[in-house]
Amino acid sequence: MDNGMKPLAHTFEPYRIKVVEKIQRNSREDRVQHLRDAGYNVFKVPSAAIYVDLLTDSGTGAMSDMQWAALMTGDEAYAYSKSFAEFESCIREIFGYKHVIPTHQGRAAEGLLFATTLKEGSVVPNNIHFDTTRANVEHQGAIALDCIADAGLDPTLEAPFKGDMSLKKLATAFEKYGTERIPFVMITITNNSGGGQPVSLANVREVSDFCKKMGVPLIFDACRFAENAWFIQQREEGCAEKTIMEICNEMFALGEGCTMSAKKDGLVNIGGFLCLNDDTMAQNATNLLILREGFPTYGGLAGRDLAAVAQGLREVMDPDYLAYRIGQVARLGARLDELGVPYLRPTGGHAVYIDAMTALPHIPQSQFPAQVFTAALYLEGGVRGVEIGSLMFEHRDPDTGQMVHPAMELVRLAIPRRVYTHTQLDYVAESCARVMEMGERLRGLEVTWEPPSLRHFTAQLQPVGGGRMVAEA
Ligand code: F0G
Repeated sequence: MDNGMKPLAHTFEPYRIKVVEKIQRNSREDRVQHLRDAGYNVFKVPSAAIYVDLLTDSGTGAMSDMQWAALMTGDEAYAYSKSFAEFESCIREIFGYKHVIPTHQGRAAEGLLFATTLKEGSVVPNNIHFDTTRANVEHQGAIALDCIADAGLDPTLEAPFKGDMSLKKLATAFEKYGTERIPFVMITITNNSGGGQPVSLANVREVSDFCKKMGVPLIFDACRFAENAWFIQQREEGCAEKTIMEICNEMFALGEGCTMSAKKDGLVNIGGFLCLNDDTMAQNATNLLILREGFPTYGGLAGRDLAAVAQGLREVMDPDYLAYRIGQVARLGARLDELGVPYLRPTGGHAVYIDAMTALPHIPQSQFPAQVFTAALYLEGGVRGVEIGSLMFEHRDPDTGQMVHPAMELVRLAIPRRVYTHTQLDYVAESCARVMEMGERLRGLEVTWEPPSLRHFTAQLQPVGGGRMVAEA
């Protein structure tokens, strides 16, 4: 199954398993109770009660023997440790930026950048801001603006680069707000909130040229940069002969810096960094780093964590790893096709996104169809996914006072790196099919409690009007 594009490379695991962790299936009765206790929000279900955990691909991967070895040889010196030198040189080789600032994870890098560059009324365009990125922008009183090309909003369209930014929307943003309100433009590779879809080198080049013309730096949200580079190598004209390293070098040379959660393509359980070319921007971020995270050569991490990131970044560039990784995600998509489960097409780099509006058409957006699917998937299979729909993104329009729902209601099944086998993912596909079979017996949900922001993490829900989520047959 190649999603209508270039044939997928094999999904053969380029490793063998050295350490295993026992997981346990529990009973449906247990799961009913866990769901009720969690207020139908799977974030709150204890991980011991989950069979296959696809909540996130962030920090959930398996490290290699070489990474565990790096932990042992990590240098815990407070300043200018050997591990920082490795970390810095490895990042420079791939990303090429002048300043490398370690942070404990991605949002810390974002926080440093945003707190030192944004003010009330600033505007940050992106293809689509990830939820914590958006929240961090808004925390500064700034506007997080999504400029995704329309193709990226059509869940049924098969296209190679649905993460691409719309130059037209970007230009309109500059006209509307003026350059002085836009301190930088961001581009997220791959575009997590839009289905883990890649951004083409051609699009980045266009965005970069436009930014240069406007005199505004382009900053990457680079969490899944290697997966994005692999898609470019497989799908973009003229890139088949380039190595992953060459594609990364070419891509990052088009920007002036990046924020990075190493919990994704750094293949580690914790870590991140901020890279910048501009001396003043880097100095301001570093001053805040010392205040919030730690000395500039460890930034909230242990020396051993820096060493594991350096090794992880070397491993993630391996084409065999990337072919297996993205092939495994595509393989899950192929299983879902066989079983008639609708998902955002084509499959992305790190996840499959079930299209809950198509799967459960009887549930209106105001009753959270994607959250219903997520809860039902846990109930049926002990599988944990995450809602990316109205629970996460619904908001009131400040001008009209009307509730605005997102364009798509998705359930993301994010695949941790090097963790689950094909057989386990076949089981996930079958569990999704069982949710589809429940169909109209599934009832909508309503919110009973929510925090002031980022409500999807902790909101509590119940079946609309109370009672059971699955109506008796
Ligand atoms: N940017 C993107 C595109 C992300 O996907 C994430 C995290 C971040 C920034 C923030 O990084 O978690 O290290 O602070 N995404 C995770 C997810 C949480 O589940 O997709 P962080």
